[in-house]
Amino acid sequence: MSGPFRHFTDLSAISPAELRTILDDARARKHRLKSGNVEKPLAGKVLAMIFEKPSTRTRVSFDVGMRQLGGETIMLTGAEMQLGRSETIADTAKVLSRYVDAIMIRTTSHDRMLELAEHATVPVINGLTDDTHPCQIMADVMTYEEHRGPVKDKLFAWTGDGNNVLHSLMEASARFDFRLNVAVPEGSEPAQKFSDWSKSNGGRVAVMRSPEDAVKDADCIVTDTWVSMGQEHRARGHNVFTPYQVNEALMKRAKPDALFMHCLPAHRGEEVTDEVIDGPNSVVFDEAENRLHAQKAVLAWCFGA
Ligand code: CP
Ligand code: NVA
Repeated sequence: MSGPFRHFTDLSAISPAELRTILDDARARKHRLKSGNVEKPLAGKVLAMIFEKPSTRTRVSFDVGMRQLGGETIMLTGAEMQLGRSETIADTAKVLSRYVDAIMIRTTSHDRMLELAEHATVPVINGLTDDTHPCQIMADVMTYEEHRGPVKDKLFAWTGDGNNVLHSLMEASARFDFRLNVAVPEGSEPAQKFSDWSKSNGGRVAVMRSPEDAVKDADCIVTDTWVSMGQEHRARGHNVFTPYQVNEALMKRAKPDALFMHCLPAHRGEEVTDEVIDGPNSVVFDEAENRLHAQKAVLAWCFGA
């Protein structure tokens, strides 16, 4: 690719002002789309998408988003590529950069995604790694603000597993200046490097054991699966996570207008009850929709379009 471009690897790698610009653009693009305005700033561009883990939302929202922007996509799975026969990430990055204009990758180790970005000469977008899921949290901040106004100084509460989605939420707490209570069982704490980064970047994150304490007077309760992709060896059902389920009793401890968020897919009856996820305070399908709008803004930002 000729000309300047930017990678979208992590919220910690992008300044608060840039992230805010992306969200403002996402809101404007959503509005223009709903008003019937057609815009094709990425006409002629091709996005390659590499999936080394399953996906519904990320796959479809990037595909549709790229088409709406006038571009095209190529869907690749790791197992069908020479990557699955141990061609290196670095060589793959160099080869793909000769064919396509941007690469989105969903993979296991965070270092694979970073290595791809290091060696690609086109923008690389993180579509989820074992460590983070920044596109999801951009959509989540957008969704919160659509319903309740600026996130600044609001209290978010996470209950459940200390996973990749939480890590990006912790980064967002520093980048967008909201408070975050995290309730996790022993052994499921977020990785130390995210707590350390958050602390040294003005994040207001408190990690605790009690979900009841974490959600007290919260403006938004967020959870996710207890068993992330690649962790299927973990026991499901009644286990250490049971007290961390988001149910009506837990929701009642938050503010009356507190939103409920989940990146989906949800495991109903495990981390969240039907009453909550289908209830009036749940915005899970708005989050899913906003993946489309937020990622179109991310794509445009990567290309400077
Ligand atoms: N939330 C999310 O990333 O969903 P998919 O795994 O379906 O892409
Ligand atoms: N934490 C989940 C998110 C899925 C979108 C996982 O990594 O499987």
